[in-house]
Amino acid sequence: MNPDSAKKIFDDSSENWARDEPKLLSDWTARPFLLDWCLPVEGKRVLDLGCGEGYFTRQLSRKGADRVQGSDISSGMIEAARANEAKSPLGIEYAVGCATDLSALEGESFDLITAVFVYNYLKIDQMRQSLRQIFSHLKTGGQLVFSLPHPVNPFLTGTDSKFHFERSGGWFSGRDQIFEGTIALRDGETVAVRCIHKTFEDVFSALRDAGFEKFPEMRELAVTEEHLASDASFFGPLKDLPLHIAIRVER
Ligand SMILES: C[S@@+](CC[C@H](N)C(=O)[O-])C[C@H]1O[C@@H](n2cnc3c(N)ncnc32)[C@H](O)[C@@H]1O
Repeated sequence: MNPDSAKKIFDDSSENWARDEPKLLSDWTARPFLLDWCLPVEGKRVLDLGCGEGYFTRQLSRKGADRVQGSDISSGMIEAARANEAKSPLGIEYAVGCATDLSALEGESFDLITAVFVYNYLKIDQMRQSLRQIFSHLKTGGQLVFSLPHPVNPFLTGTDSKFHFERSGGWFSGRDQIFEGTIALRDGETVAVRCIHKTFEDVFSALRDAGFEKFPEMRELAVTEEHLASDASFFGPLKDLPLHIAIRVER
């Protein structure tokens, strides 16, 4: 698969993603957890890969990171990120770039690299290539934090259309196949998302082969009691379902 196919999806939909307040389901069910996992960021040099229009990148910057860079394959997303930066400057540097090729950052190293729901748009080999590059751009003791749709999600029946992927293959035979899905916005709309299916073994062996030797932490994210108390009609149908996985690993 050519990374350009993800570029096209996001060039065409950057307006749906632009936001400064939570809007997508995962703005409640994943990103707050991921941000907590990145803290403290004060004084740190941060790279947000597949940053989109910068929703998460800006949160990292507001938490006091020293220098924040965001890159994304979609020029439409980067334009939207730069427009936000021009309107409300935080000093974030944005660039168009593919997560599999960090050669533009030759010689630079980071304390924290994030990739929030990006590897679900990449084939397994592309994810492996990206993780190798990340490893070489992380300082010793630096951290990688990333998230993916929960790989089991497409294999569950009776799930709610607020967040679900349609499988186009089995757990093993579906590896590297595109599973199309949707994620709900709180206002009732949905946006198209995609998951190129990977097993847990694909993800963890890619980390090991990239050079990571420390034990990776993994969390399975779901709706919480707080979500349910805040809006039972939006979050209730997703109760007890595995939604996302978050992984944090140190170099
Ligand atoms: C679901 S969006 C998430 C955006 C952002 N990380 C966030 O949390 O709001 C996925 C992003 O990954 C980007 N993307 C997909 N393939 C990529 C690649 N090969 N290299 C860099 N970015 C990529 C898309 O353009 C899109 O902006």
